[in-house]
Amino acid sequence: MKRICIVGGCGHVGLPLGLVLANSGFEVTLLDINKKAVEMINSGVVPFKEDGAQELLRKELDEKTLVVTDDINVIKNQEVVIFITGTPVDEHHNPKIHEVLDVVKYYLPLMNVNQLVILRSTIYPGTTQIIEQMLYNHFGVQPKLAFCPERILQGKGIEEIKNLPQIVSAISDKARQEAEEIFSKISPKIIHLDPMEAELSKLMTNTWRYLEFAVANQFYMMVEDKGLDFYKILDAMKCDYPRAKSFCKAGLAAGPCLFKDTMQLSAFYRNQFFLGQSAMLVNEGLPNFLVQQLEKKLGSLKNKKVALLGMTFKADNDDIRESLSFKIKKELEFKLAQVFASDPYVKDTYKLEDALSVCDAVILGVPHKEYLDLKIDKPYVDCWNVWERK
Ligand SMILES: NC(=O)c1ccc[n+]([C@@H]2O[C@H](COP(=O)([O-])OP(=O)(O)OC[C@H]3O[C@@H](n4cnc5c(N)ncnc54)[C@H](O)[C@@H]3O)[C@@H](O)[C@H]2O)c1
Repeated sequence: MKRICIVGGCGHVGLPLGLVLANSGFEVTLLDINKKAVEMINSGVVPFKEDGAQELLRKELDEKTLVVTDDINVIKNQEVVIFITGTPVDEHHNPKIHEVLDVVKYYLPLMNVNQLVILRSTIYPGTTQIIEQMLYNHFGVQPKLAFCPERILQGKGIEEIKNLPQIVSAISDKARQEAEEIFSKISPKIIHLDPMEAELSKLMTNTWRYLEFAVANQFYMMVEDKGLDFYKILDAMKCDYPRAKSFCKAGLAAGPCLFKDTMQLSAFYRNQFFLGQSAMLVNEGLPNFLVQQLEKKLGSLKNKKVALLGMTFKADNDDIRESLSFKIKKELEFKLAQVFASDPYVKDTYKLEDALSVCDAVILGVPHKEYLDLKIDKPYVDCWNVWERK
């Protein structure tokens, strides 16, 4: 099978996968409704930070192994259709399953029963089964459907797709074999699960990460609230003690995946997932705590100028989706501080030198590499332990 269409192909997950597949001998079509992204990618420009993507994109466009389009008709002529669009939660933290179903439904009239359909978004457990029924109702025979979750670290997708084992699940042996054939060309190892197991495995992976951050953040707040140094204690705990090696630093646990996937898992367990809910309260509470820490240092935040460094959801990345730095900004403004948000990767923010020269104090939102060697001579809050402790 050579011709693969990726629906959502210009997104953070679709594009790296498309590039790796194109570079591995497949004819790849990236289909996306985002016309601006389609134009940019077609002109050889990667619209977001993704290591190694720029060179690969130029190469695949030159070699004509990659087509980028918003023309939905391209789907007719494909052997494989991979769906990688967003899977958000709603205002009640319940998964918006209909958004996933609507995308498949939209393309269904253009698809045919011989195509292998691969779901790759992080989906609510049971979604594969619902889509199987939808395809069956449309085609009148058992479809070829697989769910093969994406597990990359955003920004490192190209490298990770080639190094991480791929979980493959499918509703039939035929679909499983065909999906395995594709992924074994780009992945070092294939792991088989049933669809519901695979759906859960992805949600549990992200939730586990979210819980790890929550533990560190809870301890950080507990300790620092008492005027003690969390990192002094953490260093002592980890020193030559193997069982504490994986203990993470405190830091804003944000972005488009960890929160919403923990909430998807919570919805799956009928909102009885207390650990996940608690992690959400802790991680979402950290921005408020950091603002309080600064308030304690300054006495009051009213009319204070605060430089907020790092507005993206994680370091050395340009993605601001669900970034908790914006929550810090809101909280500071609520306390009548004047915020000078700065980020080398985000448009319309202050230059670092300007923010630092005018400010009375600093909060480190995200530890971009540009900030690591700064010497801050004003009061600051740095939950990441990047700057010298004061
Ligand atoms: N971002 C990550 O690091 C990451 C890692 C693993 C898994 N995931 C999962 O992958 C999925 C996609 O995440 P993302 O970060 O790539 O999202 P994204 O918003 O960056 O990409 C989704 C893309 O789908 C496109 N799209 C939406 N509706 C469409 C339609 N009807 N037809 C064609 N294209 C359409 C959008 O224009 C966008 O380009 C989510 O389920 C997410 O949880 C994300």
